[in-house]
Amino acid sequence: MSAPQRNLELKARDPDPRRSLELALALGAEDRGEIEQRDTFFSRARGRLKLREQAPGGAELISYERSDTPEARPSDYRVVPVADPEALREALDAALGTLVVVAKRRRLLLWDGVRIHLDEVEGLGSHLELEAVAAPDSDLEPERGKLERLRAGLEIDDAGLVAESYSDLLLDVPEALLRAADTAMREAYAPYSGFKVGAALRSAGGAIYTGANVENAAYPQSQCAEASALGALVADGGRELTAAAIVAERSDFCPPCGGCRQRLAELARPETPIHLGRPAGPRRTVTLAELLPMAFELEPKAR
Ligand code: THU
Repeated sequence: MSAPQRNLELKARDPDPRRSLELALALGAEDRGEIEQRDTFFSRARGRLKLREQAPGGAELISYERSDTPEARPSDYRVVPVADPEALREALDAALGTLVVVAKRRRLLLWDGVRIHLDEVEGLGSHLELEAVAAPDSDLEPERGKLERLRAGLEIDDAGLVAESYSDLLLDVPEALLRAADTAMREAYAPYSGFKVGAALRSAGGAIYTGANVENAAYPQSQCAEASALGALVADGGRELTAAAIVAERSDFCPPCGGCRQRLAELARPETPIHLGRPAGPRRTVTLAELLPMAFELEPKAR
């Protein structure tokens, strides 16, 4: 079994990769050359699961958890060498589904145990990553200190810091969630109102969960689309949603009902974007706080 490892990482947009390379070399970083990497992320995984194929270099399956904060953040991960990446990719795609593929050209440099990645990511442009692999019993303070020194040397300012992973940046387009909500909406069971609604939620792990309204002859027993989608997310181990979309057949915009705003607030943050409209437009994005100021909360918030 591969033992879990831990690293501390930081990501930023890089407006001038050539200058970053010069700065890194001037700091004494060792240049390990360029690597073509293709990461296939799979759906329905607890945490994140990706198959990394690289040239030069072999393939590996990587499972990890990470939190989305712009500051240096810890990440626990496992790496398993893969002998037949194509067969594994097909098997995992058939079993779990593919979420997104991240393709990039990476220039790898090493500085005092910290990996510097100068990445040219397809669809996202130039980014710079710093990754300090932690010693087994580290309290992460030495790694944090190294990252700060390197960050100053590479002149990475706060404005450029990026909290999201490349996969989330690629997935976080409103159309993707609205499309998923629209597909679920078509399956809605709404024989009494004739008002079909679909909801799609992006979980912190990147997967999309959908739901449709389910009506009942005993009218008050009907369930909203958002409640159905929340149930799917939670049943799969999700405890947080990072974005939501709601689509209705008979209305261009279907803001969630009051009860569902409170339901969403349970597993979302005030700044979580809620996309309303249709996949091909018109559409509008509001935050949960705009929909529900002063959400009810118990202190402390239980998850
Ligand atoms: N509905 C939802 O699914 N979500 C909302 O946020 C608003 C209303 C459903 C409930 C009912 O089945 C139908 O729309 C008409 O009220």
